[in-house]
Amino acid sequence: MQAFEQLHAAASKILSRAYAPYSNHPVAAAALDAAGTIHTGINIENASFGLTQCAEGSMIAAWRLAAGEPLTHLVCLNQGGDYITPCGRCRQVLYEHAAPTLSIATANGPVTLAVLLPAAFGPHNLQD
Ligand code: THU
Repeated sequence: MQAFEQLHAAASKILSRAYAPYSNHPVAAAALDAAGTIHTGINIENASFGLTQCAEGSMIAAWRLAAGEPLTHLVCLNQGGDYITPCGRCRQVLYEHAAPTLSIATANGPVTLAVLLPAAFGPHNLQD
């Protein structure tokens, strides 16, 4: 199965684990790493709205815990099974942990993280 199809299926399977009672907008993220392992995450909202955890952040936490290999492909899905592109905050979170070549599914075809977050601020800016 093609990478994005595989990830779409994995994200669909965990979408019901999202906790989104405030926005009613469950999101699931699924990413493939270089070893062929899939890492997933869901959004987790909070009554203190600003504390909401996006699906991509949950996925990055799961990937870290699993000591995953570098991420190669990512999909984020809404309840309708449509691709959503990561929000600005998530693009920044992803940039810290994935190569600019990370391929992200969108409704108009795959784009790289470098395209979604050009001229990114990152760890290199904090070096002496
Ligand atoms: N959300 C994500 O999980 N990822 C994104 O990239 C965009 C937004 C979540 C946050 C919130 O729980 C809900 O979608 C509505 O914004």
